[in-house]
Amino acid sequence: MSAARLLLLSYLLFKEAHAQPGSFWHITDLHLDRTYNLTDAPELVCASSNKRPAANAGKFGDYVCDSSWHLINSTVYAMKAILPDPDFIVWTGDNTPHVPDEDLGDEEVLNIISNLTHIIKQVFPRTKVYSALGNHDYHPKSQLPARPNHIYNQTAAMWQDWLDPESQETFKRGGYYTEKLLSRTGFRMLVLNTNLYSDHNNLTVGMDDPAGQFLWADRVLSEAADNKEKVYVIGHIPPGFFEKKRGKPWFTPEFNQKYLDLIQKHHSVILGQFFGHHHTDSFRMFYSAEDSPIGTMFLSPGVTPWKTTLPGVVDGANNPGIRVFEYDPQTLLVKDVVTHYLNLTYANVARGRWEKEYRLTESFRVPDASPASMHQVLELIANNHRYLQKYYEFNSVSYDRTECNRDCRVDHVCAARQVDFNRYESCLKIEGAAAIYGGSLSVLSVAVGVVLASR
Ligand SMILES: *[C@@H]1O[C@H](CO)[C@@H](O)[C@H](O)[C@H]1NC(C)=O
Ligand SMILES: *[C@@H]1O[C@H](CO)[C@@H](O)[C@H](O)[C@H]1NC(C)=O
Ligand SMILES: *[C@@H]1O[C@H](CO)[C@@H](O)[C@H](O)[C@H]1NC(C)=O
Ligand SMILES: *[C@@H]1O[C@H](CO)[C@@H](O)[C@H](O)[C@H]1NC(C)=O
Ligand SMILES: *[C@@H]1O[C@H](CO)[C@@H](O)[C@H](O)[C@H]1NC(C)=O
Ligand SMILES: *[C@@H]1O[C@H](CO)[C@@H](O)[C@H](O)[C@H]1NC(C)=O
Ligand SMILES: [Zn+2]
Ligand SMILES: [Zn+2]
Repeated sequence: MSAARLLLLSYLLFKEAHAQPGSFWHITDLHLDRTYNLTDAPELVCASSNKRPAANAGKFGDYVCDSSWHLINSTVYAMKAILPDPDFIVWTGDNTPHVPDEDLGDEEVLNIISNLTHIIKQVFPRTKVYSALGNHDYHPKSQLPARPNHIYNQTAAMWQDWLDPESQETFKRGGYYTEKLLSRTGFRMLVLNTNLYSDHNNLTVGMDDPAGQFLWADRVLSEAADNKEKVYVIGHIPPGFFEKKRGKPWFTPEFNQKYLDLIQKHHSVILGQFFGHHHTDSFRMFYSAEDSPIGTMFLSPGVTPWKTTLPGVVDGANNPGIRVFEYDPQTLLVKDVVTHYLNLTYANVARGRWEKEYRLTESFRVPDASPASMHQVLELIANNHRYLQKYYEFNSVSYDRTECNRDCRVDHVCAARQVDFNRYESCLKIEGAAAIYGGSLSVLSVAVGVVLASR
């Protein structure tokens, strides 16, 4: 064999070895409820049920309660059993229970974050964790300040193994930071504190750029482009609308627009966005001005099964879910998404069996989880009832298996398709009309085209 051929061969072998997909865990919304106990009447099993009876309470929890310690422990050990050596872990916040502020306090919030940090470190001692604050990781809840405070300080101290000195500084200032991804040049993680943009946050009302986070993110992403870096963005509260409640956003209109502008400006370096807060399994598409898919935000399901008390949402509980993202370590392209879950009903009566719920590329017949493929998934859901129903069952992590009707279809399709407030409203009208006429959007647009052409 000639030297040139040998060189070529070793190059190909090297390339092959490096084409192996990478993988990481995403966990979110653990919401530990330490009051969970089986000794009391159903109304008293957990404080987070707010007196709703926990009818099927067992060791692993109940659908009206936040996570029991047993469930948290089972979750972290399940991660270890399924994928013991991930490249990294993404943990997107909300660690404390859904109880009135009076029942918590600075110390209890910090204790819970510390407790969960501890078990993750204990089970994954050598794994880098990228950790974002949720709206429940502060006291009072959702009131995360745009300035230094003792909770950011204490949390930065708990997470110091995962934060370099500059990250410590920005975290203490505003709860956000950036780190190299995989400790490699050319790859970056941006960890945002989007709780500053929440319409429940009284402390950032009227501000243009709380804690200077938008300006900072714009700078980090511009530098990333200059340095030919690829970036993942993580955070807790997503922009856009809740797919289970029509017209329910989390951001103020101004902050929603600013977030969208940031992503549209920098989409070429952002290879994925990973958020939580909904407790459901969904995604959000981002499009260019010319309507081509330029980005996807993956919304991962929560660990807590807690049935939401949000008025207008019927039976909004879920099974505990965790997920593995597979990606190309050279390009950061998201290749696949594998969701694992615990059937809580089964776990309580039999044993804690974590199982694979689904693999994205198998269930939706797409080649990968790129923006183009996720756009295809969305079109399948929008136009084919079989896929809509499948998506809908996954949305609650196989908890709610009732029929997704016409209104349900419109709510889910428009929430996934339009993060922009005005475009979302138009989508509701267009998809609502399409439902009434029994046709798909394409039928309607042909009709509109004919009408316009005849004028
Ligand atoms: C069980 O939870 C209830 C409701 O939060 C609480 O009042 C009670 O003290 C708890 N019992 C135990 C033994 O922890
Ligand atoms: C946590 O889970 C592991 C693995 O199943 C088990 O060995 C351990 O006893 C559990 N710890 C608690 C406190 O439940
Ligand atoms: C975390 O909290 C649980 C339940 O309150 C407790 O059993 C466990 O020992 C705590 N772990 C640490 C490391 O504090
Ligand atoms: C936060 O910690 C810094 C030192 O890292 C200290 O100077 C500052 O006073 C602390 N701020 C609060 C509000 O605790
Ligand atoms: C935030 O502001 C609203 C409206 O003024 C008020 O009802 C609420 O109590 C405030 N919340 C907190 C935690 O300050
Ligand atoms: C969960 O377990 C219960 C009890 O075994 C069973 O009836 C139900 O069908 C299971 N759900 C799923 C999605 O498998
Ligand atoms: Zn949550
Ligand atoms: Zn939240």
